[in-house]
Amino acid sequence: MCGIVAYVGPRDAQPILLDALSRLEYRGYDSAGLAILNGKGVEVRKKSGRIQELAKACASHPIQGQSGISHTRWATHGAATDANAHPHQDAAKKLALVHNGVIENYLELKTILSKAGHTFLSETDTEILAHLVGDAFQSSKAKGEARLVDAVRSATQKIQGTLGIAVIHTDFPGLVVGARRGSPLVIGVGEGENFLASDTQALAPYTSRVVILQDQEVVSLHADRFDVSSPLGDRTNVKIEEVENGVTHSDKGTYPHFMLKEIFEQPAAITNAFRGRLDVDAATAKLGGLNLGSQELRQIERICVLGCGTALHAGLVGKYLIETLAKIPVETQHASEFRYGDSPVSGRTLFIAVSQSGETADTLGAMREAKRRGFTCLGICNNVASTIARESDGGVYMHAGPEIGVAATKSFTSQVVIFTLLGLLLGRLRFLSAAHGRELIEAMENLPALITQALAHSDAIRAVAQRYAKHRSMLYLGRLANFPIALEGALKMKEVTYLHAEGYPSAELKHGVIALIDKETPTVLIATRDGVYDKNLGNLQEIKARGGPVIAVALEEDKKIITLADAVLPVPRTHELLQPILNVIPLQLLSYHAAVALGRDVDKPRNLAKSVTVE
Ligand code: M6R
Repeated sequence: MCGIVAYVGPRDAQPILLDALSRLEYRGYDSAGLAILNGKGVEVRKKSGRIQELAKACASHPIQGQSGISHTRWATHGAATDANAHPHQDAAKKLALVHNGVIENYLELKTILSKAGHTFLSETDTEILAHLVGDAFQSSKAKGEARLVDAVRSATQKIQGTLGIAVIHTDFPGLVVGARRGSPLVIGVGEGENFLASDTQALAPYTSRVVILQDQEVVSLHADRFDVSSPLGDRTNVKIEEVENGVTHSDKGTYPHFMLKEIFEQPAAITNAFRGRLDVDAATAKLGGLNLGSQELRQIERICVLGCGTALHAGLVGKYLIETLAKIPVETQHASEFRYGDSPVSGRTLFIAVSQSGETADTLGAMREAKRRGFTCLGICNNVASTIARESDGGVYMHAGPEIGVAATKSFTSQVVIFTLLGLLLGRLRFLSAAHGRELIEAMENLPALITQALAHSDAIRAVAQRYAKHRSMLYLGRLANFPIALEGALKMKEVTYLHAEGYPSAELKHGVIALIDKETPTVLIATRDGVYDKNLGNLQEIKARGGPVIAVALEEDKKIITLADAVLPVPRTHELLQPILNVIPLQLLSYHAAVALGRDVDKPRNLAKSVTVE
């Protein structure tokens, strides 16, 4: 994780670094720091906590200078303290370095360096790299600024793990050297100024012209030029791309939190997911970005969905949708498990990597592994300039708009809508009748209004949340396509309230989970009217018989459940295949209101980051 920004140009670096860094806070917010070449040497400011804390430190002691580097941290090695914040320096204090990634052999390297007389000021893996670059600089035979480039190249060769780094050195006032392996790094090409950043979003107000650095490349960046070289030191010809960037709408509007704003944006977000992609006449979906013709789509024998967290939960709903609509067997895999496992995959399997950010390290790693084995991989991403979007063979953009709250909400429902479109398209190329296709299209078109109707219960849900927020532990149960909704509801609750919450298929209750039931452990039971409604009511009775409170997600018109459950979270009725999309809405609201009741930092919960760019 972590976010990096560097600047070289004619302007004051400090305000630019602070501003651009604030757009990367989604990558981590444990501490922040910057280093600027002030004409005499490297000057560093760093603070634990949010970028705001760093900004305050910089406001009281500003640094003057036109080139610098900065970092927002998600702690891997060492606690979130001032000392562990980046930038880190070498032994001679001549250079400063920021790093996004993990150095796997850092203990071994630390032992070697300590024996050679190095002392360290932090517990981080990054400080080791700063010392290695410093040592390599001392011993490099290269001349001029090529010496710093050479030092970066040779020090990074000693590292096992991932890195995106930016380095400045006292001897070279107008130079930033960057390198990447595994972690993303982009060059922002300005007019008489240049930038480096972990992603293009950081650069939105400054430039839309970018160069995406490739793995193992090193860049030396000046105000008026930049040179990219391969691991062997050969100069590389790069392509400047124009990105559709736009300044991120990071405005909460009238909402107190991004999470609530994004929950309420779902009618629009899902409309964007299906707009222009429905073919009413042919009763199917149009997904040109897949880059697969009808013949190829008909030949798919299996699908494997890769993702993490909420994105994987969307994939689990996708499994039900595609298996029901297209009768293609679908397996879902935790991306982190797939990339290192021996998972056998049969011939005509299509892979789908699902990721809001498109930068999740595990999902990217798993997708690369599937591609390495020769499989076609599609991406379902929100961030159009992301690595997964670029490296996949095709895919479907979500167009959900920026999701700032760490807890994923609108991205989940958008992803499920996209799986519905895929199911419809694949189904219509196989057995699904036009009549069934049309029914689904009609239901999809009505969905935004029904989400608005579900959101109208927010105040009532707040009252339920306030009643149950004091409990330490909660269970979430659902069957079939609502089992992933139970998982997603529990994940949301854990993330933003820090309460313990677990999701299970309802029928698993009696296989052990029921031992947890008592009057202090509420169960959220998803029991909308479907083929397993009566089974769910059976579970409800079993929980009540053991004194457990039940909060039921039920249809607005369900009068029966009101008499049985302790609280009801009402949802309108829709097509059975789309009902999970409506059922997740009250669960998002329940978590949000519970987190507010508990005084939690809703948009930036502890220990988390929006985009998990380390494995
Ligand atoms: O950006 P991605 O969709 O790849 O992120 C995957 C997960 O890290 C993410 O969904 C995470 O679980 C969310 N914080 C859940 O709210």
